[in-house]
Amino acid sequence: MERRVICLLALACTALVVSGGEVTAQERDAVTIRVDAHAAGPVISRHLFGQFAEHLGTGIYGGVWVGADSPIPNVRGIRSDVVAALRALEVPNVRWPGGCFADEYHWREGIGPQRRTRINNNWGGVAESNVFGTHEFFDFVDQIGSQAFVSVNLGSGTVQEAADWLEYMTADARSSLGQERIANGREAPFDLHFTGIGNEAWGCGGSMRPEYYVDEMKRYARMLRNYNPAQREAPNLMQRVAVGPDGGTPDGGYTEAVMGAWQGKVWSWDIEAISLHFYTNESTWPPRFDSEEFDEDGYAELVEDTLRMDGIIAHHSAIMDRHDPEKKIALMVDEWGVWLKPLPGTDPGFLAQQNSMRDAVIAALNINIFARHAGRVRGANIAQMVNVLQAMILTDGPRMVLTPTYHVFHMYRPFQDATFVPLTLDAGTYTRGEWTMPRIDAIAARDAEGALWLAVTNVDPNQAATLRIEVEGLQVQSASGQVLSAPQVNSRNTFDAPVAVAPREVSVRATGGVLTLEAPGKSVLVVRLR
Ligand code: AHR
Repeated sequence: MERRVICLLALACTALVVSGGEVTAQERDAVTIRVDAHAAGPVISRHLFGQFAEHLGTGIYGGVWVGADSPIPNVRGIRSDVVAALRALEVPNVRWPGGCFADEYHWREGIGPQRRTRINNNWGGVAESNVFGTHEFFDFVDQIGSQAFVSVNLGSGTVQEAADWLEYMTADARSSLGQERIANGREAPFDLHFTGIGNEAWGCGGSMRPEYYVDEMKRYARMLRNYNPAQREAPNLMQRVAVGPDGGTPDGGYTEAVMGAWQGKVWSWDIEAISLHFYTNESTWPPRFDSEEFDEDGYAELVEDTLRMDGIIAHHSAIMDRHDPEKKIALMVDEWGVWLKPLPGTDPGFLAQQNSMRDAVIAALNINIFARHAGRVRGANIAQMVNVLQAMILTDGPRMVLTPTYHVFHMYRPFQDATFVPLTLDAGTYTRGEWTMPRIDAIAARDAEGALWLAVTNVDPNQAATLRIEVEGLQVQSASGQVLSAPQVNSRNTFDAPVAVAPREVSVRATGGVLTLEAPGKSVLVVRLR
């Protein structure tokens, strides 16, 4: 009997073996993915791949800002290695300065030559020098080629303070605030794409009743004006993002209150989006899962927990649909990610954690969920960009390492602003102890050039999956792209071994009109179909 290898991604996975016309066990058990290339869904907004950078731990100081006098290579104080890594990621927007920090932030303390030092009450009680302020943030966003998402202080600030900040950022020299910005070194107005009207008003933002928040939010929505002439029309109109639900508390009342108010609104105010925050492992507090030392139980429980995101979005989307059937208001999941135990020896207020292959799987599953809800979910910001929670990048003095989550975001770049293409598959199940979940997850999309992309996650950490790809409306010849996998669920990149988890190239040709791909256990695969 002739045995020959027909499938091969450049993977350390089992080769698919075909034996003279007979169907092998692998082929029989193959997962068939049927992509309907004729059907088109909504656009998967690039803003689903947004980042979040808070004044928290070393997320800004050390991670982004090192100061112009630092021996670490930098441009105007912003570290160049981190900028290069983020440029490569094509980050669509960065949310700043918080988080909880935003609701105690006073922008005037972070401009001009004299900066005021305060205590960062939310995060470790450390001194906040305010050296990284408005100008430094926009410089950073420009350096990485991204857009700005600024959350104003509704918790401890005033409407006037927030309105002045917007005028400072966007007005020309007719305004004294515009003149002040120019005197501080920035002639042209800043481009402010998103403005968050407070943060977690139901929690650290003031524990407000939904009705109270709505009254406040209407004032901010009215008074926050963007004077930048380049932002008077779509697609660059500033988007106002109201506080929405805590995903972990489905009946908190914010979605109903904000959307009900919007439905009955008068001419004088408006919003473009509401936010949703939900963290994997939010229900077990304080966080009890380790980011480095865990076994398959720790993998399965957290991966299953992350899948709750789908039901949470569906729940809040249904409320939004009642008030806004045309989906004018976007849902922005502007905080998400896995929240784990602080690394031993670190300040618990710094939320420092490692990042593993488990986190890469969790990232891909969340992105897939957002994409399936792309008609309503038009923004998401992973928490957080550097050194905090589920980070893209870890730094230690001059050293930098890219995490498995970074690689997922990098692999998914073709999905930014692509059009969702429906697919069907029989996902099967992966079970470990009391945790059961779909074994395979996948999405497809067509990019602006017409290329068809497929992203597949094999959740099962132990079994490779053979995938049979069928595309209605296209005779698929080949697939090429990248796959991310690792020997262990807790495999991770360290400063001493920075490429332990790194994507590998994949290229496979169809045989007899059938495209067969192999997804290793615990893997994320992104390929272009031709
Ligand atoms: O991302 C860390 C914190 O989590 C944010 O500051 C806050 O908004 C949320 O509770």
